[in-house]
Amino acid sequence: MRVLIVDDEKQDLQSLSIALRSKGFKVLESTSATQALGFIDRQESIHLVLTDYLMPGMDGVELLKAVRQKRPHVPVIMMTAYADKDIAIEALHNKCDGFLEKPFTLDQLEMEIKRVTIQTVRSMNVSWFSRLVPKIVHQINNPLMSITGAAELGMLELNDTETVRRCFEGILDAVHRIGEINRNILDMRKPFITEIKEGGVEIHAVLNETIDSFYGLVRFKGIEVGKEFIQKEVQVVGSRFAIEQLFKNLVMNAIDALEEKAHKRIIVKTELRTPNYISVYISDTGCGIPENRLDTIFKPFFTDKKEGNGLGLAVVKDVVESMNGRIEVKSKVGKGTIFRIDLPLETE
Ligand SMILES: Nc1ncnc2c1ncn2[C@@H]1O[C@H](COP(=O)(O)OP(=O)(O)OP(=O)(O)O)[C@@H](O)[C@H]1O
Ligand SMILES: [Mg+2]
Repeated sequence: MRVLIVDDEKQDLQSLSIALRSKGFKVLESTSATQALGFIDRQESIHLVLTDYLMPGMDGVELLKAVRQKRPHVPVIMMTAYADKDIAIEALHNKCDGFLEKPFTLDQLEMEIKRVTIQTVRSMNVSWFSRLVPKIVHQINNPLMSITGAAELGMLELNDTETVRRCFEGILDAVHRIGEINRNILDMRKPFITEIKEGGVEIHAVLNETIDSFYGLVRFKGIEVGKEFIQKEVQVVGSRFAIEQLFKNLVMNAIDALEEKAHKRIIVKTELRTPNYISVYISDTGCGIPENRLDTIFKPFFTDKKEGNGLGLAVVKDVVESMNGRIEVKSKVGKGTIFRIDLPLETE
């Protein structure tokens, strides 16, 4: 977990930094709110901001407001030299997550960070849960599609033992996934808490699993799937379950888009375009999306499919935003579509 400390008193800044490092935190130091915002604008990966209130120029509350705008999910703890009610009220009004009255001990600091982190993770889960329950239930449709595809392919190729074996594997895998989705629905907090605590989710492992889970379906539909991965393990901070749903929805949409096309190809590619972000591209040679729909497709319930719910991309957008990532789409009608997802890296 990486903490951005903001304090104009160099000595306080240093001792805080040393203390936090000794407890295993990763630290970014900044002596002013402006410098701190620089880190945020440069898309540094930051999981918590610990800021002094009283600083020359922009004060702690101004910084808090800016962080709220730029990174709504990053918790902020304010340090004040004295218990000033007005500051506390203003900070609370701007959704400050925690307070520390100076001087404080390392234990108090650590406890406050723990409290704020758990609270943030919980509220992330609660809002995720209430907004996404219908969408998650809909996720079960993806493994059901894999089961259908694998079963249909298996029936067609009964004499090819290897294909039949892989189809059964695909079916079992999809059944396990449904079980996993059900477990996660019952215990939505778990994926966030355990995985954020554990640190990272290896992105290529999730991508490989996603691609494998569609094996039967893509073979049945005659779709070629290409992988262009960088040769490096890359960890991101987030829920493995949520990240899987993100990619599965994108691949599912690509499969649907190829339905009427003769040349059916999907490419999943990764790239380190900037040092702090991994970019994942999912491209298809499908029907494409008209330009005037490029914004609408992310809205819940927008669909142009007979059997669609219009929820896949709403889930995708939610997951990307909850991880402080970005999503972009480029498309040409009749030629195909490329989705690019940038996710902040778990830093060394
Ligand atoms: N790769 C793609 N190529 C072409 N159109 C796409 C692609 N991805 C999404 N779309 C368009 O965006 C719409 C919304 O996608 P979304 O995944 O949210 O819902 P859906 O696929 O229609 O239904 P659901 O995912 O809920 O089953 C789709 O109906 C389709 O028109
Ligand atoms: Mg979809």
